[in-house]
Amino acid sequence: MNVLLLGSGGREHALAWKISASPLLTKLYAAPGNPGIGRVAELVKLDVADHSAVAAFCQEKKIDLVVVGPEGPLVAGIADDLRAWGIRVFGPSKAAARLEGSKGFTKDLCAKFDIPTAAYGRFGDLASAKAYVEKVGAPIVIKADGLAAGKGVTIAMTSDEANAALEACFDGAFGAAGAEVVVEEYLTGEEASFFCLCDGATALPFGTAQDHKRVGDGDTGPNTGGMGAYSPAPVMTPEMTERTMREIIEPTMRGMANLGAPFAGILFAGLMITESGPKLIEYNTRFGDPECQVLMMRLKDDLLVLLNAAVDGQLAHMSIRWSDETALTVVMAARGYPGTPEKGSAIRGLDEAEDGAQIFHAGTAINGGALVANGGRVLNVTALGKTAGEAQARAYAAIDHIDWPQGFYRHDIGWRAV
Ligand code: AMP
Ligand code: GLY
Repeated sequence: MNVLLLGSGGREHALAWKISASPLLTKLYAAPGNPGIGRVAELVKLDVADHSAVAAFCQEKKIDLVVVGPEGPLVAGIADDLRAWGIRVFGPSKAAARLEGSKGFTKDLCAKFDIPTAAYGRFGDLASAKAYVEKVGAPIVIKADGLAAGKGVTIAMTSDEANAALEACFDGAFGAAGAEVVVEEYLTGEEASFFCLCDGATALPFGTAQDHKRVGDGDTGPNTGGMGAYSPAPVMTPEMTERTMREIIEPTMRGMANLGAPFAGILFAGLMITESGPKLIEYNTRFGDPECQVLMMRLKDDLLVLLNAAVDGQLAHMSIRWSDETALTVVMAARGYPGTPEKGSAIRGLDEAEDGAQIFHAGTAINGGALVANGGRVLNVTALGKTAGEAQARAYAAIDHIDWPQGFYRHDIGWRAV
């Protein structure tokens, strides 16, 4: 098979690494990719926002499957547009990607199909949103409705903070994504990421993970896209997984089919495990980054076989095997992240570090033959171990070999599990 992978982060490097190990693969292309992905795929300069250009490339190169990494193109409808050209795509339709593209859509789906989630209101103007905050009180959570690169959520501990977040939203801090807001109940418990591989009718559990969203050690500082992750998440016991499937995932699959938007692709449920059981915080309609990196380390089966089965509606016949080991990844980021990261600093020592760990590239580039930082999250140093402690020790031992003074990382990834 010829495969085209869209995206350029650590998530896509992990997908490329796994896809490239498949005996089914003839040739892997990636657009735009990154230098790490370039070791296992041919990088193509394609404007992913130009769906016709992507389709034309697929026809020219006889692409048998397009795998879409990030949410942006999915919410923009790339899967529908490519399918209209007869191209097979792994990823949800635009209508199904609303599960990530509109938080209000997902909350209404939960209300309609009795899926446990935080109590909420949806608002299109400041005055009525503020009135709701006044009525419910803090702590309370303010969310821009649309895609905001992980920055559209404010956990407000006071009404003043909530009102400030609402004002920022309606003032255009998140552009069109903030024209509508969801205001919701503050949930407490332990968070977990739960993944399902879906084909429109069947959802197969596809691993669990825990992410570390705050930039600093001890879960301090601003939110990021994720500073590290490990899999499995101990909180997702077989019983909790069974409840999540029955109470959250299966009603979602039925609900989406019922709305004429069956979900096919990766469904990523952000969960809060509360005293009364699992509650949905949010859906993403793609793999997590960096959660994907740890899932790919543990996946024993051929990813390409599974992606094909999802595209062909054959998941009811499949099962998935996972390593019993724990995988853990530490994100190395460029100074300044999650604000404006410094670009261009040289990174050395990866060959030594790769002995005992898998290093996925995220924001890297080649400049004059040297590897340099080219984004916020730059490297994902990933290892397996019999325990979370062993995986953690291996990942940090690998980091010790990396010579990159302008980079930083958290020192406590996996603390909950270790
Ligand atoms: P999101 O961008 O929706 O993943 O939200 C970012 C983070 O905000 C989540 O990972 C949670 O830690 C937190 N969060 C979102 N919604 C809630 C909620 N209703 N209650 C408590 N924490 C929340
Ligand atoms: N790491 C969180 C996400 O990918 O949304």
